[in-house]
Amino acid sequence: MNARKLAYLNALEIDVWQRREGGPEAAPPSVDSVTPIEVEPAPAPAGLENGAPAVAAGDLLSSDVSALSWNELESRVRGCTLCPLHVSRTQAVFGVGDRQADWMVIGEAPGADEDRQGEPFVGRAGQLLNSMLKAVGFKREQVFIANILKSRPPNNRDPRPEEVRACIPYLFRQIELVDPKLILCVGRIAAQTLLETDTPIGKLRGKLHHIAGGRPMVVTYHPAYLLRSPVEKRRAWSDLMLAVRTYEALGGKINS
Ligand code: URA
Repeated sequence: MNARKLAYLNALEIDVWQRREGGPEAAPPSVDSVTPIEVEPAPAPAGLENGAPAVAAGDLLSSDVSALSWNELESRVRGCTLCPLHVSRTQAVFGVGDRQADWMVIGEAPGADEDRQGEPFVGRAGQLLNSMLKAVGFKREQVFIANILKSRPPNNRDPRPEEVRACIPYLFRQIELVDPKLILCVGRIAAQTLLETDTPIGKLRGKLHHIAGGRPMVVTYHPAYLLRSPVEKRRAWSDLMLAVRTYEALGGKINS
C-alpha cells in the first residue's frame, strides 16, 4: 500500500493491516466474523410502509424527463414545484461533479449546508465522503454526486413517499446521462429506495447490486452515520474495496 493511501486511511481513522518487516502479513479480522451491529434502525423507508415499493420500476423512465439534456434537466430541477419541499427549500440541489464520471455517488437528500450552498455533501458528512473517495484514488470532482431528493426535507426528516415519487425520475435521468460504470450508494434511505426494499442496510452493504438497467451498485454506510459510529468505518472501507474491485473488473482504472 502506498504512503499516500495509508495517510488517507489514517485520516479516516481506519486501522490498516500492513505486512510486518520480515513477517507474514497480519490478517485482518474477517468482516463477517465481526459481530454484526444493527445499524441505522429505522421505520420502513419512504414508500414501503405497506410493502409497496417507493417507485414502481416501470415509472422511473416513463416520466417526461427521460429525454431531457443536462441543461434542460438542470433547469427543470431548479424550477421544480412537484412536491411541497419547493416551498421550504432555499434552492434545489441538482448534483455536482464530472457529468461523464465513471463513478456516481448517490445519497439521500440535501441537509442544511447543502440547501444553503446548492451543492450535495458539503457539510461534515461531505468532508468524510471526500476523504473516502480520496482513499480509493478519486478527487471529488472526478465523480458525480447526487441525491434521491433534490430539495431539503425540513428538520432532516426522512423523505416522504410522494416526495421520492416526484423526484426520483430526475435521478434516473442523471444516471442515464452520466452512464457511470459504478454507483456507490451511501446510506439506508438511498439504498432501500433504489433497491425497492426494506432490508436493513447491514444486509445490503458488502455485496454487489444492479439497478437502472443492470448498472453495478455497491451500498455502504452514509458518511453522517460513520461520523456517529466510527467503528463502522472498517466495513465502509471493505465496501469501497468491493466497489474498486468491481470497477477494475469492468476495465476501469483509478489513477492514484
Ligand atoms: N446527506 C445526503 O444524503 N446528501 C447530502 O447532499 C448531504 C448529506
